[in-house]
Amino acid sequence: EVTKEFIVGMPKAELHLHIEGTLEPELKLKLAQKNHVDIGQTTIEEVRASYQYDDLASFLAVYYPAMNVLQTEDDFYDLAMEYIHHAAENNVRHAEIFFDPQAHTSRGIAFETFINGLYRATVDARALNIDARLIMCFLRDMSRESARKTLEESLPYRDKFIGVGLDSDEHNNPPMKFFNQFTQAEQYGLHLTAHADIDQKGSIEHIRELLEVIGVERIDHGTNIVEDPDLVAYAANHHIGFTTCPLSNTFVRPEMKGPEVLELLDKGVKISAHSDDPAYFGGYISDNYYALADAFNLTKEQVVMLARNSFETSWISKEQKAIYI
Ligand code: HPA
Ligand code: ZN
Repeated sequence: EVTKEFIVGMPKAELHLHIEGTLEPELKLKLAQKNHVDIGQTTIEEVRASYQYDDLASFLAVYYPAMNVLQTEDDFYDLAMEYIHHAAENNVRHAEIFFDPQAHTSRGIAFETFINGLYRATVDARALNIDARLIMCFLRDMSRESARKTLEESLPYRDKFIGVGLDSDEHNNPPMKFFNQFTQAEQYGLHLTAHADIDQKGSIEHIRELLEVIGVERIDHGTNIVEDPDLVAYAANHHIGFTTCPLSNTFVRPEMKGPEVLELLDKGVKISAHSDDPAYFGGYISDNYYALADAFNLTKEQVVMLARNSFETSWISKEQKAIYI
């Protein structure tokens, strides 16, 4: 039996974590008061009661408006440092952290404000023995033109993030919509990942486009690749990383995807577990590992394999990887 203590103690890499999703109700209220932003709630209980969602769209409708409380560089720094402390408590040694520029520039916050605050937290993370990096995500429900402009705006800060991703509402927003941005990002030496997780016809096509046309190194969620055994074999052969988020799945997807995770592990696909939006889905990375291990009776070897996969599919150097694998 795999205990919580074992999971907490195991070194881990966190590869699927939205920094805006680490905004805990306490910090949300504190920033709302400081910045005079009306969020419609004034107590922790009211904030928690507002967390009602049962699919991706209803989650995003709660998630994005809350970001209004983030206004200054220090707000972003404080948000990220709070996460770094959670990561340290969970023995996360390496973190690749998503941020959503368009969720902030679209409400008048300057690119330099959030990137400098977030980046400063990644520098200070080193004192806690955490190697933290940033991944810039495009919001797929916004226009191509907006993504193009975002990539352009990010270039003065090119040395402050290591990759690009794709998140928000996937419905009717296929990866190919952003083919040009992915291609350009790759030319700038950025790593590529993207969310693919809608449970409906078409999702497998999104996964195929990501693997065969765009050429991403990882897919976030993506467990429904099991529908296509040829694609599963391709992913295994090409060491594509898959980042599953068990607790997030219990809220915004039909279930935790345990059988899919076990099948992918068994077929040699490099899948690992992460927390997505821990302040909204009730747990940090160890809680996610534990929920999965507990619900599907994972062995110690399987849990260790997930953690090993997280380092293997991370974007740290070969030398750094050798320490953990
Ligand atoms: N899917 C898409 N967009 C997101 C998610 C997610 O799980 N979390 C935060 N933004
Ligand atoms: Zn996500």
